[in-house]
Amino acid sequence: MMLNITLIGYGKMGKMIASLAEQHGCKVKSIIDPHQEGCEKEIREDLLGEVCIDFTQPQSVLENIKKVAAVGKHMVVGTTGWNKYEDEVRKIVEANNIGLVFGANFSIGMNIFNRIVRYAASLCDKFPIYDVCGWEMHHNQKADSPSGTAIQLAETIISQSSTKETAIYDRLNRPINKSELHFASLRGGSEPGWHNIIFDSENDTIELSHHVRSRACFATGALKAAQWISVHKGMYSFNQMMEDLLC
Ligand SMILES: NC(=O)c1ccc[n+]([C@@H]2O[C@H](COP(=O)([O-])OP(=O)(O)OC[C@H]3O[C@@H](n4cnc5c(N)ncnc54)[C@H](O)[C@@H]3O)[C@@H](O)[C@H]2O)c1
Repeated sequence: MMLNITLIGYGKMGKMIASLAEQHGCKVKSIIDPHQEGCEKEIREDLLGEVCIDFTQPQSVLENIKKVAAVGKHMVVGTTGWNKYEDEVRKIVEANNIGLVFGANFSIGMNIFNRIVRYAASLCDKFPIYDVCGWEMHHNQKADSPSGTAIQLAETIISQSSTKETAIYDRLNRPINKSELHFASLRGGSEPGWHNIIFDSENDTIELSHHVRSRACFATGALKAAQWISVHKGMYSFNQMMEDLLC
């Protein structure tokens, strides 16, 4: 049976999800976006499908979650840059007994990449000849910098490192302290998402790269998350959902 979904935000990601929905067993019941022609202008109970997928902007996401939770519908939140509200959102999800999956990167490939980086970081940490750093590049419309994915990758590397304690995302014209992991962010062109991790020694370099070819990779993960959360309650990261699917 098809799952009825509502798209909140009909920009680049909303449009991609709409185009792939049926392939993933989802039917788009409604699309809400106050700034796009032909879309519903606000969240109303009668418009909502069983799961609402939010790809909007950081300033809108908390209000959207409150409105959807108030009518007991489940959510997939792909919008990035709202981490400071995470505790508040968790309380809203629990109080309204709904399910919510969130994540800075809904790419299944990136989730696997993160696991590979974790393993590589744990191996290289045993050999002090290797230092580690990273960079990411996204299109020039992206609102946040560094990307949420860069922050996640940096946390993964630090969790496996006996020398790196913090990450810095900008050098601020000062030398890198050895206890800092340097992660650079580039913004330009139309790049949908490119993350590189480099383990470097005097004699060789190990370079791990995840390069998004199209936004379809995020949309596929978001639709998979919609199916999964339709039968779960509580707040889960995309990674927690992947753990469940992998076991
Ligand atoms: N989690 C992931 O895998 C992933 C992947 C790509 C992008 N993103 C994030 O998703 C978000 C959207 O990305 P995009 O590339 O589609 O952006 P976009 O700018 O192309 O589209 C955003 C749309 O949201 C609409 N919008 C803004 N406020 C709204 C509201 N209150 N209600 C309904 N619609 C509203 C805007 O009018 C716009 O059409 C960004 O935060 C981006 O960083 C996440």
